[in-house]
Amino acid sequence: MGKLLVNIFLVTLLVALGSNVEGFGVNWGDISSHKLPPKDVVKMLQENGIKKVKLFNNDDTVLKALAGSGIEVMIGTPNSLLKDLVNPDVAKKWVKENVTRYEPKSPKGVNITLIGVGNEPFLRDYKDTLTNVTGPALENMQNALNDAGLGDTIKATVPLNGDVYLSWNPAPSSGYFRPDIADPLNYILKVLNKNKAPFMVNIYPFLSLFYGNGNFPFDYAFFDGVSNPLKEKDGTEYTNCFDANLDTCAAALAGAGYGNMTLIVGEIGWPTDGNPYANVSLAQKFYKGIISYLNKGKGTPRRTGYTETYLFALFDENQKSTLPGNFETHWGIYYEDGTPKFHLDLHGNNKSLVSVPNVEKLSKKWCVVKPEVKNFTALMSYVCDRVDCTPLTDGSSCNGLNEAAKASYAVNAYFQFQQQKDGSCDFEGKATTTTKDPSQGTCTFNIGFNSLNSISPSPSPSPSSGGSSSSDAKAPSLSSASALSPKSLTFASMGIFFLASQFFL
Ligand SMILES: *[C@@H]1O[C@H](CO)[C@@H](O)[C@H](O)[C@H]1NC(C)=O
Ligand SMILES: *[C@@H]1O[C@H](CO)[C@@H](O)[C@H](O)[C@H]1NC(C)=O
Ligand SMILES: *[C@@H]1O[C@H](CO)[C@@H](O)[C@H](O)[C@H]1NC(C)=O
Ligand SMILES: *[C@@H]1O[C@H](CO)[C@@H](O)[C@H](O)[C@H]1NC(C)=O
Ligand SMILES: *[C@@H]1O[C@H](CO)[C@@H](O)[C@H](O)[C@H]1NC(C)=O
Ligand SMILES: *[C@@H]1O[C@H](CO)[C@@H](O)[C@H](O)[C@H]1NC(C)=O
Ligand SMILES: *[C@@H]1O[C@H](CO)[C@@H](O)[C@H](O)[C@H]1NC(C)=O
Repeated sequence: MGKLLVNIFLVTLLVALGSNVEGFGVNWGDISSHKLPPKDVVKMLQENGIKKVKLFNNDDTVLKALAGSGIEVMIGTPNSLLKDLVNPDVAKKWVKENVTRYEPKSPKGVNITLIGVGNEPFLRDYKDTLTNVTGPALENMQNALNDAGLGDTIKATVPLNGDVYLSWNPAPSSGYFRPDIADPLNYILKVLNKNKAPFMVNIYPFLSLFYGNGNFPFDYAFFDGVSNPLKEKDGTEYTNCFDANLDTCAAALAGAGYGNMTLIVGEIGWPTDGNPYANVSLAQKFYKGIISYLNKGKGTPRRTGYTETYLFALFDENQKSTLPGNFETHWGIYYEDGTPKFHLDLHGNNKSLVSVPNVEKLSKKWCVVKPEVKNFTALMSYVCDRVDCTPLTDGSSCNGLNEAAKASYAVNAYFQFQQQKDGSCDFEGKATTTTKDPSQGTCTFNIGFNSLNSISPSPSPSPSSGGSSSSDAKAPSLSSASALSPKSLTFASMGIFFLASQFFL
């Protein structure tokens, strides 16, 4: 009797633990001019009960902050390293210096469980430059892990973009891999299978809507149900494009002979600015939907149960390339200063997201153009070359402002970017500071914060002195692979988009 009770208790405990262990992760990118101290970010993750993070690189300060935190970590290797990793010795050294050193098996170490080998290497933009090196790089990485005695707990995989598979009719069951990359993908699948490593793919319902140009059924991007679901011949219904997309991938895997391979969603998310579909209320709707979907653990028609999923992303990253779209700098569920953008209940306990602790905002001072200034052309081009002006673009939060107010938005962004340094709100006498908040409507004029990195400001900006200044902060950092993934040119989820729109139209 007592034993039975204990057993029941244990089973309950295991079930409870099980649901904790699962959960979802977040992508923590760092293509930002102003970063928060990693140890404070880790505190925030812990307070939010976030148990997994996915990094695009292997920054030492970030990894040290994650040591002993109880958080599972995926680290990344940049695409630029793939060709070097074709040499097994390079992979061995990489694992020794970048994995073993962090004692992944010790409770005090960094609990590294996954290694991303490259990032979306089969994007069509890369032409074929990475197709033949990715498989061997993956294989060498996993072999190096196995040789180091880490292969049972650390798996190497390749985060792939959604356009590696398609389907030739609206049904996910007809999913197949892109024929032009069949061989290199098969190489990868063989390596993954042999090592019991997961297949990782990035899925973006937002991009389906974005590329759909008004033809993609809006409700299908969310999780609230649709009036006319996508139907398979056998009657299976799909009410959201996440399910359909994931099952298309699962069908492609099955078609290639790996129907049982674990599938992980490496990135999924919704941006909050830079596009008419990118705003806080739609992002909140999307996240609310996907979190409750994931917490239910029901899965898709083909992949029932839990699918490990990483939200994209933790923070806005102001130095990402906007080539894919003006929304690229706005993927965070947090602003760069560590404040959450919206209420999000991660665990079904009605708790809101917790802010990053210890962030010091700068004083309540803004920069605006003087009323007598009438021509903003040179000013705008100087400033917007240096800071993120995407909120001013079509369909964005500050697009409704008049030209003078837009110029003020821009000079303020610069002033805060320069951490309100003396002389950074002057612009040859065209701008001045104010203590009256110039924000209007959906357009927020931000205030800077004390960040980890001291940037090298150019104290006396002069718009007329030409563009090539030393403070070229806009240059995308090549240190993170995600800087190099212009999704716009790739048509992620395109197969699904075509099919779904054909079906719905
Ligand atoms: C560790 O990782 C970094 C970033 O990927 C890389 O530049 C460095 O070469 C790696 N160390 C070794 C010994 O390979
Ligand atoms: C790492 O995380 C996994 C999954 O949560 C867990 O099973 C394992 O015990 C952790 N390892 C360490 C050393 O904490
Ligand atoms: C990749 O390998 C295939 C088969 O060996 C070859 O036909 C192709 O030209 C290679 N592509 C590149 C870009 O090297
Ligand atoms: C997949 O797993 C099921 C159940 O474990 C098994 O019956 C089936 O043979 C497996 N299929 C493949 C292709 O490994
Ligand atoms: C968000 O975007 C949707 C679609 O463009 C729009 O209908 C809605 O009004 C927007 N909400 C806000 C608060 O701007
Ligand atoms: C959730 O929290 C809010 C305040 O944060 C409260 O107004 C609301 O009643 C709570 N809902 C439930 C179901 O507890
Ligand atoms: C505004 O300034 C730009 C560049 O300084 C100049 O090319 C343009 O002609 C000016 N526009 C007007 C209306 O004066």
